[in-house]
Amino acid sequence: ARALCYDSGYLNTVMARSSITFVDGERGVMRYRGYPIEQLAERSTFLETAFLLIFGQLPTASQLHQFTRLVADHSYLHTDVGTYIRSFRYDAHPMGIFISSFAALATTVPAADAHHVDKHLYRILGQASSIAANAYRQRIGRAFNEPRKELGYAENFLYMLDRLSEGDYRPHPAVVRALDVLWIIHADHELNCSTACLRHLVSAQVDPYTAVAGAASALFGPSHGGAAEAVVRQLERIGTVDRIDAFLERVKAKQERLFGFGHRVYKSFDPRARILKRHVEEILALVGMQEPLFEVAKELERRALQDDYFICRKLYPNVDFYSGVIYRALGFPTDFYPLLFGLPRIAGWLAHYREAKQAETELQPGIDHTHVVRPAQVYIGHRPRPFVPLHRGE
Ligand code: CMC
Repeated sequence: ARALCYDSGYLNTVMARSSITFVDGERGVMRYRGYPIEQLAERSTFLETAFLLIFGQLPTASQLHQFTRLVADHSYLHTDVGTYIRSFRYDAHPMGIFISSFAALATTVPAADAHHVDKHLYRILGQASSIAANAYRQRIGRAFNEPRKELGYAENFLYMLDRLSEGDYRPHPAVVRALDVLWIIHADHELNCSTACLRHLVSAQVDPYTAVAGAASALFGPSHGGAAEAVVRQLERIGTVDRIDAFLERVKAKQERLFGFGHRVYKSFDPRARILKRHVEEILALVGMQEPLFEVAKELERRALQDDYFICRKLYPNVDFYSGVIYRALGFPTDFYPLLFGLPRIAGWLAHYREAKQAETELQPGIDHTHVVRPAQVYIGHRPRPFVPLHRGE
């Protein structure tokens, strides 16, 4: 008989051995494949980091060139998927469009072929940015833009969105860099809810397209990919610095939560929040905007970090405290934020997909990785009772 332990949120359950992302929540440390997140954010690009996560090593110049070219080659939207996206109402949630379109993309691949994830990596990354960009185009009722293969990943995405004009729009290099940094730091975060969901799906041998659609569905939830949106709405509600103290009193009285603070793993600064705080200043300077919400956010952080309630519970700003402010400064609509988080996370999902598949083939002594994820339950329903037919023969 197995010894069972009730652990509904997997707080004490290890479900994988992984060499992708290291997180030390006590010290506020995060590394991809051994490389500190701060150095990657400073000096890498999103596609280079995606290569690192997926293949385990930094690419050589020619590997990166080839990887970039293959992703760009696959970024032309499948015609059927384009037709499908156009069938959504103008006010459909962009994340809903993305999830269903990605699942639809699975139907364009022969089932027997789909499981060879390495053959599909480039297509998944290429199609993802086109689907995401065109979910937005559908939203604003504009024609879709073809990708431009000569542009980088983030630059091409911004180009396809073409938010500002119908002409030969080119995003500002600093805006491109800001998005790249956001995508680097969002690319993986070990067994977060959506990645754990993806590993569940892989254990049942689901193809990578459907697995990405499933993981994206988990990320859509407000407790996971929706927190940045909640932070911005909260800052809007607070409105001005002089209303912060009253707001914090409500938080301490447990009448509400301070969104963007606290983390299941980090009991110290979330290193991603530090990186983003620096970038908000740069972006605001660039777009020449006074963003009153940023002033409120900074002061809210300062006061919370001096308050005993937050100190004794080890509550610090998390990645979402500043990401929403950046998205807002860049002009993205609030309900687009989950998609801006989900798009880079696909790199992490693909890395976990490959790792889980490899674990199946390279069994380590004493560890059986081939189990389908299938937790136990405690049954609390009815005791046996006889069936009563609806028509009793009258
Ligand atoms: N505001 C006020 N109090 C809080 C907060 C908060 N944001 N977070 C935790 N607490 C309190 C909580 O009330 C509890 O107090 P007490 O001991 O008096 O009962 C104590 O701190 C421990 O909280 P917990 O809920 O047991 O902590 P957790 O590790 O289960 O929750 C969390 C982590 C992220 C769900 C939570 O901190 C939270 O709800 N934060 C706000 C939402 C948010 O910003 N989410 C984004 C997470 S980062 C993105 C991602 O990785 O997906």
